[in-house]
Amino acid sequence: MSNGKIVAGFLAPHPPHLVYGENPPQNEARSQGGWEQLRWAYERARASLERLKPDVLLVHSPHWMTQLGHHFLGVPTLKGKSVDPIFPNLFRYNFALDVDVELAEACCSEARSRGLVSKMMRNPDFRVDYGTITTLHMIRPQWDIPVVGISANNSPYYLSTKEGLEEMAVLGDATRAAIERTGRRAVLLASNTLCHWHFHEEPEIPEDMSREHPQSYAGYQWDMRIIELFRKGRTKEVFSLLPQFIDEAFAEVKSGALTWMFAAMGYPEIPGQLHGYGTVIGTGNAVMEWDLSAPAAPVAAAA
Ligand SMILES: [Fe+2]
Repeated sequence: MSNGKIVAGFLAPHPPHLVYGENPPQNEARSQGGWEQLRWAYERARASLERLKPDVLLVHSPHWMTQLGHHFLGVPTLKGKSVDPIFPNLFRYNFALDVDVELAEACCSEARSRGLVSKMMRNPDFRVDYGTITTLHMIRPQWDIPVVGISANNSPYYLSTKEGLEEMAVLGDATRAAIERTGRRAVLLASNTLCHWHFHEEPEIPEDMSREHPQSYAGYQWDMRIIELFRKGRTKEVFSLLPQFIDEAFAEVKSGALTWMFAAMGYPEIPGQLHGYGTVIGTGNAVMEWDLSAPAAPVAAAA
């Protein structure tokens, strides 16, 4: 097979509160709702995904941390209970997922051939992290599309941000090559929050939305600036600002998923579709889509 392609990429953040607010049968914790604007954003993203009909979803999560290299889920079926170590009161999720091992192996070998330390994860009892599970549940709760899960090597945290993100761009190139070689119709998911300044105390009722708002005005302003540039298709400008955004908004995109995804897509200068924005314990979260399957959309005139 050949001629695979990336049909779309999504910014698809993973606050476990969104799963908690939805009350799916897989999650043990029960809520009275909450974070509706973000959950409705994901409903719109779900409808897009349904139209795109991908063969596989690839997700890069900051919460599967592997300091030695980039790891890929490599077991055909994984099941178990995923628990958020920070919010075990909200997220105890019984997952079962199918892995596209052939594509994962192709990603791993392409990464290795580009000089990245890379490894397949073959533990059949592996507990998949809550970032991967939350993003996948929110975008496709039916769990009927195979996945490729990619760990966060977190190189930007112990190299410089610039060096670390350059490594993530190499991982993106490797991912695209693997998708093309294996003939997959793929959707990429960057599992990242934007501004990551957060509150340190949880309300007595976690879903009490009267307590939910941006933790930082400066961080909120940064999020709006980044989203507006993305909405106008000014991708290059976003990536030139990214190191400053990361420093000033403590942005979770430092872990590399956004860079991985855009490098794989070739940094398209097309307008991103904002499905919605909302805060979770004060952090800024946007659900956005870049549809590469559509005919080239006109880029809004630069201001
Ligand atoms: Fe996170």
